[in-house]
Order: sequence, then C-alpha cells, then structure tokens
Amino acid sequence: MQSLLKTILDDVRPLLGQGQVARYIPALGEVDPNQLGIAAMGVDGQLFTAGAADTPFSIQSISKVFSLVQAIQHSGEDIWSRLGHEPSGQAFNSLVQLEFEQGRPRNPFINAGALVIADINQSRFAAPILSMRDFVRRLADNPTIISDDVVAQSEYQYRSRNAAMAYLMQSFGNFNNEVEDVLRSYFHHCALAASCVDLARAFSFLANQGRCIHSDAQIVSPRQTQQINAIMATSGLYDEAGNFAYRVGLPGKSGVGGGIVAIVPGRFSLCVWSPELNASGNSLAGMAALERLSEQIGWSVF
Ligand code: DON
Repeated sequence: MQSLLKTILDDVRPLLGQGQVARYIPALGEVDPNQLGIAAMGVDGQLFTAGAADTPFSIQSISKVFSLVQAIQHSGEDIWSRLGHEPSGQAFNSLVQLEFEQGRPRNPFINAGALVIADINQSRFAAPILSMRDFVRRLADNPTIISDDVVAQSEYQYRSRNAAMAYLMQSFGNFNNEVEDVLRSYFHHCALAASCVDLARAFSFLANQGRCIHSDAQIVSPRQTQQINAIMATSGLYDEAGNFAYRVGLPGKSGVGGGIVAIVPGRFSLCVWSPELNASGNSLAGMAALERLSEQIGWSVF
C-alpha cells in the first residue's frame, strides 16, 4: 500500500499547475499550490502515507461532516425538520435554490445546509467553536489541532454570500440564533487546520461502523454511519457528486483548502490533499489520486 500511494502521487504530480487555489478567501490564496499528500488508515489501525501527509491545511468544508455528526449526536433525526438530505446539483455556495425552496437547504454539505447545522449546534453548545475543535482533536488523536484565526477572520471579512444565505433562511424562519454569531462559529470550524494523517484518523469511525479506531469510542451508531456515508456519497462533492461517484465510487467530502476525505466502508478512511481546485471547487490532483487508488484496488462501492 505504501508504495502504491507513492506511485499514485508520482502519477498525478504532473497535474499540479492545472487548477486554481481558492482566492475568494484571500488567506487561502496564499498557500503554496505545489503540495500533494495522501494518507490511508485501515480499520485495523495501520497507517500508510505518501508526500506531504503531515502538513496541516485548512480543512474548510470537510468540517461540515464533523458538524453534522455533532448535530446527529445531540438531536438525531430531529435535524431533518430543518434541512434535507438530497443532492442539490448546484454549486456549494449557490443561493438560487434556497429561495425557491423556502429557506430549507437541500443537504448539510452545501453552505446553506452547513449554516443551519451550525445554527442547531449554536443552540446546544455553550462554546461551539471550542466544542468542535475539541471534538476534532479527540477524533484525530491530536491535541495540537487549532483553528487558524487569520483564515477565520479572512472568511468573516468576505462573508457576504454566506451572510446572504443565513439572513435569507432567517427571513423564512429557519434560523434561531444571531446570524453573525453563527457565521463566526462556522468560519472557525472551516478554518481548522489538520493534516491528511489527522483526517484519515479522524474519519476512521465512518469506515468502522461508527466506532473510533484508536479510542474505541462509539461516535454514531452503525445505522447513522451508513446514513452519513450515504449523504457524503450523494452530496459530499456538491454539483460534482455524480462525477466523484463515477470516477472514485466512494463516499467523500471535499473542502476548498484542497482536501478530500473518502471512506471505504469496513476497510479504510482516506485523505488526499492538494490545494489547486477544479471549476467545482474540488481538489484537481486529489480527485485524480483517489480515482487511481480506487480503480487499482477495486474499491468502488457501486
Ligand atoms: O464557506 C465557505 O465558502 C468555505 N468556508 C467553505 C467552502 C468549501 O470548502 C467548499 N468545498 N469544496
């Protein structure tokens, strides 16, 4: 496995230079684009890595899975009164559907849905930013993980689209807390910095019927694990979820920091990172690496 990961990174390295780092968050635009790393964690606890697997990066929308898990832990099925679990077929930051559908976001992974989940969590946690950070620290077994204040501030400064979504949902009665407070929590979650190794470890519970491999804690039930993986498979890569299912065939979640996590149920949790994105906001080389890996091992769930 170790040598396969290295070969795959060598194969996709020529793609570096063909994408664009996210510039709509200025602090992310300063990241060195020529970086590539991958980590795979088996449900037996074995870890395989290649490239810049230990370099922390901005996890961005990958945090939406952690927020969803927190919300499911304390509110279970009740959360679905506020949002759906259907793919949107729209860009992650699209506003159009939200008005047509009366302020009820299609799923928890588009920005509007993640803001509703952040609103739900804001009502439950006295310190939502720290609760989330500590949750990720426990899942990744890494007490040094922090939220990057520079990135969070940059996101807050350029928050217009996310703020527009949140206020639109408030106008439909689908927002309970102060919009600006929820935005700050949401941006701090997105600004968490973690490496491929951290994320492969943190997501191991989704490959292991809800049970964290290193701590043995049951994070969610086996049934909830299937449901979260289903939402990742149908909505984890936004308007490119179909392409990801076709090319990779695994539940996945991307972030505009260039990370993508993918789950091989019952076997592995994977994380690949390369900052340059394609037109849908997903890591260009990361997609190609996961496609090769899934193809060579025959991992597609379909
Ligand atoms: O709110 C935003 O736009 C970012 N903090 C997160 C977007 C993101 O990562 C979309 N993923 N591909």
